[in-house]
Amino acid sequence: MIEYKKIGENEREKVQVLVETVLDGLERKEFFIPITNNEYDDMFNDSKSIIYGAYDDGKLIGIARMSLEELKNDHIKKELNLENNKVTRFGKYMVLSEYRNQGIMKHLQARLIEESKKLNYEYVIILAHPENVQSNGAIKNMGAELVETTIYKEYLRNVWLLKL
Ligand SMILES: CC(C)(COP(=O)(O)OP(=O)(O)OC[C@H]1O[C@@H](n2cnc3c(N)ncnc32)[C@H](O)[C@@H]1OP(=O)(O)O)[C@@H](O)C(=O)NCCC(=O)NCCS
Repeated sequence: MIEYKKIGENEREKVQVLVETVLDGLERKEFFIPITNNEYDDMFNDSKSIIYGAYDDGKLIGIARMSLEELKNDHIKKELNLENNKVTRFGKYMVLSEYRNQGIMKHLQARLIEESKKLNYEYVIILAHPENVQSNGAIKNMGAELVETTIYKEYLRNVWLLKL
């Protein structure tokens, strides 16, 4: 049975192995914006992130992250006229290839939505490369709406918005 739980700092290495495995297997590397060391630090900083993991018999097989930092000076927030709203961002969606299409990301997203509601966020922004069918499909599946396609950190991205 697959278990879902919050990931802590002590699992940083496991997460790095998962990220590397998924990235190695990606045919289109531009589907995933590389994670810098600073971002890894933020991912494991309780005041900046919540990450949920999916585990099969103790093995980490999928993750998804929500950002706890208020998005400031964010051009996407401005473009969507959400500057006065409490907006979080979900990302770092990855599931090992042999576990895909079993609803694992659906469960991880549901956990992040619960956490966002508890923290009184009003909206979630999620970005995906327009040709990343699996990722766009998973985001659409949770009820988000495609609102624009833009350049983010030099990467072409669909912008999805979920009203909580
Ligand atoms: C994107 C990813 C995380 C999805 O994980 P997953 O656990 O396979 O997704 P789920 O099984 O929960 O699927 C949820 C929904 O997404 C959609 N979806 C998933 N795979 C799909 C595909 N190949 N084609 C179309 N829709 C798809 C479906 O709507 C699905 O719901 P349904 O099964 O009820 O129809 C996974 O494919 C992955 O790790 N991809 C490589 C890394 C990546 O590109 N990450 C995204 C970076 S933004």
